[in-house]
Amino acid sequence: MKSVYIETYGCQMNEYDSEIVKSILCENDFELTDNPDTASVILLNTCSVRENAHQKVLHRIETLKSLKRQNDNLILGVIGCMAQSLKEELLDDGIGVDLIAGPDTYRRLPGLIRGVEHTGEKAAELKLSRTETYADVFGMQDQGANAWIAVMRGCDNVCTFCVVPQTRGRERSRDPKGIVDEVKQLVDQGFKQVTLLGQNVNSYRFENIDFADLINMVSDIDGIRRIRFTSPHPKDFPTRLIDVIRDNPKACKHIHLPLQAGNDRVLEMMKRTYTSEQFIDLAALIRSEIPGVALTTDIIVGFPTETEDEFQDTLRVVEKVGFDSAFMFKYSERKDTLAQRKYPDDVSEGDKTSRITRLVDMQRRISFERNQAHLGETFEVLVEGRAKKPDQLFGRNDGNKIVVFPDNGASAGEFLNVKINEVTPNTLIGEEV
Ligand code: SAH
Ligand code: SF4
Ligand code: F3S
Repeated sequence: MKSVYIETYGCQMNEYDSEIVKSILCENDFELTDNPDTASVILLNTCSVRENAHQKVLHRIETLKSLKRQNDNLILGVIGCMAQSLKEELLDDGIGVDLIAGPDTYRRLPGLIRGVEHTGEKAAELKLSRTETYADVFGMQDQGANAWIAVMRGCDNVCTFCVVPQTRGRERSRDPKGIVDEVKQLVDQGFKQVTLLGQNVNSYRFENIDFADLINMVSDIDGIRRIRFTSPHPKDFPTRLIDVIRDNPKACKHIHLPLQAGNDRVLEMMKRTYTSEQFIDLAALIRSEIPGVALTTDIIVGFPTETEDEFQDTLRVVEKVGFDSAFMFKYSERKDTLAQRKYPDDVSEGDKTSRITRLVDMQRRISFERNQAHLGETFEVLVEGRAKKPDQLFGRNDGNKIVVFPDNGASAGEFLNVKINEVTPNTLIGEEV
């Protein structure tokens, strides 16, 4: 039996896809290993979203080459978004990659690997599909508190900065029957929380089932205690979804709502199709309808032609909305995106650094203030594992905030109540009550 080692980069969708790949390989007489040194096949499941994601993988390939020098038969594959984006370029001599496979081709991986093994030739599978949802393949999830599950794949939006539509293809939704069956199996394995994944979950539609219906269907499954999802797009957030999150006790009171920028000219150039005012109104509606909801976001600074004044608009929106936390990025030009074709990457590295530093500082202060409001509150926490500090465990509350508390022997997947008596910008610290 050939042993395969898989390493995953990028988003949660990629984490889930790696579980799909493991399932497919195991059904086809491969075995999995945690040790790259003894593996006969090494697969890197990769991300293209920013240039540093590429650089990380290219460096990793460099170090893995030494294993190839020790073992002539070792097969090194790059799968996922970077394979789909860079294509055959990745198979150039000197790089050391033997096979590439895009996100819609994983059913053909076993044959692809065997082909490389028998012929010694490099191989590529890069076709994107309009229908592949891996509906009947259940991910091989490691034990833990949370299980990922992709409910839709691809993206039909055209955010001009973003490479995902190129790497993931057109939008398609997975049959809810397969989703429900997979969640039931996850419950049997001991999972109590699932996170429903899609590039734009509010576009989920299968026949007459929309995303709000899907949350309710999943919540009807006995044994599921928490349902999370990521990400919705602010342009089309249905009020019924707000109602379902408010009224369904299993739906977590946390919404990740990517802002990207707070200036209308920049939002227009990004083709986000909402204005800063519409975003602020949506955030206010969500806050008023779902008391205590945690709001988080993604923001890009230094999009082409963004001025200092326009960046100040982003700071103003961030202050006004008061996100609980944010992922913040410097704009990174991506191959074959509309922004790359239309706009030069003309904000200097120095300006990008200055803007992201100020944004991160502001968000840190806001996160700290929002966490301070939780002092004295008691949260139900789903335990995830050991914290960095010795003798401490960590888990998450309903709002997805990290809660740290003294180790009381609880294991991952258990629920307990923790009273908060100290906070930092990123953590709530407390004791079991
Ligand atoms: N589909 C998701 C986003 C996936 S990418 C959504 O719309 O919510 C995750 C985040 O990466 C994006 O929200 C964006 O903030 C950031 N990102 C995407 N492309 C980028 C680029 N070219 N440069 C910098 N950040 C980028
Ligand atoms: Fe990228 Fe926009 Fe699609 Fe998100 S919605 S994956 S940012 S194109
Ligand atoms: Fe995810 Fe990166 Fe691809 S964010 S969808 S792995 S480009």
